[in-house]
Amino acid sequence: MTSTDSAPKAPAKDPWDLPDVSGLVVGVLGGTGPQGKGLAYRLARAGQKVIIGSRAAERARAAAEGIGQGVEGAGNAETARRSDVVIVAVPWEGHGPLLQSLREELAGKLVVDCVNPLGFDKKGAYAIRPEEGSAAEQAAALLPDSRVAAAFHHLSAVLLEDPEVAQIDTDVMVLGEERADVEIVQALAGRIPGMRGVFAGRLRNAHQVEALVANLISINRRYKAHAGIRITDV
Ligand SMILES: NC(=O)c1ccc[n+]([C@@H]2O[C@H](COP(=O)([O-])OP(=O)(O)OC[C@H]3O[C@@H](n4cnc5c(N)ncnc54)[C@H](OP(=O)(O)O)[C@@H]3O)[C@@H](O)[C@H]2O)c1
Repeated sequence: MTSTDSAPKAPAKDPWDLPDVSGLVVGVLGGTGPQGKGLAYRLARAGQKVIIGSRAAERARAAAEGIGQGVEGAGNAETARRSDVVIVAVPWEGHGPLLQSLREELAGKLVVDCVNPLGFDKKGAYAIRPEEGSAAEQAAALLPDSRVAAAFHHLSAVLLEDPEVAQIDTDVMVLGEERADVEIVQALAGRIPGMRGVFAGRLRNAHQVEALVANLISINRRYKAHAGIRITDV
């Protein structure tokens, strides 16, 4: 028996034992759009300090004022600089160029990508596979000094933005390379009533999570719904 074999094993950590994230500042790039604004509203309503970013600081300030809940608005660069966790909520077309331009401001930050690369034609929505594999992997490639995670792909911005909706009844698949980072994002999701963050693998498996939105859009169209997802048996 080696000394390693005889060492007492540390008890396995409860996967639902998540960190306290209440003191973190969350920035949202592209926070003037429905997804970013909706997430900002929900997180701020749950007590999180939130800054929304825009290519035009004035637009972000106006949107922040509309949200209330203590949300601030700033340019995307300032938002990135002042935040601990930065959610990327811009269209796929703007994703690469924006992240490339903010590489310095995003260094050392936890960047959470919620971008779904999609195309639309007369048959509806379809998933695009980026050269890097997924939007999240593109973010990781462009931001070598940041910690990149992926989450919040399957939310309905309509529900997020509706103040009459008390609970957002959905799970949030969270992907990333570092367990500590994934747990921060899970904990952030868990602050929103009805929402639960579930670890769903490494970034190399982000494509199918991003792509699933094309299916949700089809579901929403057929059933006139704002569908979310639930992972069973966990
Ligand atoms: N909508 C949803 O229900 C939903 C749900 C889950 C995930 N998502 C994902 O979240 C992202 C944002 O969705 P959205 O519906 O909020 O999108 P959006 O309204 O089209 O865009 C969000 C914001 O991004 C900024 N933006 C637009 N083009 C840009 C560019 N080329 N470069 C940099 N910034 C640009 C704009 O802000 P400024 O002009 O103020 O800079 C815009 O208000 C998308 O990638 C989408 O796949 C959306």
